[in-house]
Amino acid sequence: MFERKYPSTRLRRLRSSKYLRDITAESRLSKDDLIQPIFIKDINGYESVSTMPGISRVGLDVLLDEIKEIADLGIKCVAIFPVVDKEKKDEFGKESFNESNLACSAIKIIKKNFPEIIIIADVALDPYTSHGHDGLVKNNYVLNDETIEVLEKQALALAKAGADILAPSDMMDGRVGAIREALEKNNFQNTVILSYAAKFSSNFYGPFRDAVGSASNLGKESKSSYQMLTANSDEALHEVAMDINEGADIVMIKPGMPYLDVISKVKETFKIPTFAYQVSGEYSMIMLAIDNGLLEKKVMLESLLSFKRAGADAILTYAAKEISKELN
Ligand code: PBG
Repeated sequence: MFERKYPSTRLRRLRSSKYLRDITAESRLSKDDLIQPIFIKDINGYESVSTMPGISRVGLDVLLDEIKEIADLGIKCVAIFPVVDKEKKDEFGKESFNESNLACSAIKIIKKNFPEIIIIADVALDPYTSHGHDGLVKNNYVLNDETIEVLEKQALALAKAGADILAPSDMMDGRVGAIREALEKNNFQNTVILSYAAKFSSNFYGPFRDAVGSASNLGKESKSSYQMLTANSDEALHEVAMDINEGADIVMIKPGMPYLDVISKVKETFKIPTFAYQVSGEYSMIMLAIDNGLLEKKVMLESLLSFKRAGADAILTYAAKEISKELN
């Protein structure tokens, strides 16, 4: 046998220059992949979120400035989250389907001035309930079917205001089907449903709950009776299959980086548009490390690229604006 002195395969050849590395990259992040979440509040100007470095709640008076900045950076899609005044919260989340509530008002303002910007609106009751749960509560249990009736109304109000994409984030069983039917009946055939199909009962949502002010409402309660057990991934496939059958156009996995295996399994199994959410806790963890000099700024890009490698088609990330500057 001929004894080789040198390796015949040198994987390092393709790593030897930047251009070679670039043309052989298996995945990349582009601005089309980025979705910027925005917190909207009934205030003038901006109010910073203490648990999320660089993130502010945005008043309606400056909303268009914010959207213009996002649009100018080349980002095409935003996800809006209302921060609802305490007085407007009740046990039943009735404000959720008020057609002139904060979310609907924001959608109308954006659509009128930036019709091409895609708006994702969350469908869930937690910004509106006094107890902070995503649904109606009876005997300490979040009711499924009763909650869905409210979600249908909320979905219609948001669709009517002009939301392009509705994103049920509540994890009630059967809500995608019910919302789809309500949309069809009311002539919203082209309203897209992005279901938070596999949403885990995660502790990475903490800063978000601070940002929207549901943390104090929720107190020590958990959402484990409706959000998924963090140990499961087969169940995530079941959730996704159900939502596709009920009429979801896009499915989402959330959180992102701790659940890359789930993103990968879902994409491989169903081959449908699959989004992932780099949630508030992931964002803050990385940003705080950067701000304190423990990690380099580049880790954010690396984290987002891992979503692409896993198979995500688009990513909701609070870093969308910053990252798109780096992609310029
Ligand atoms: C509400 C909702 C949550 C997030 C998005 N929609 C919080 C929760 O379920 O408690 C979390 C987003 C984030 O942490 O960035 N249904």
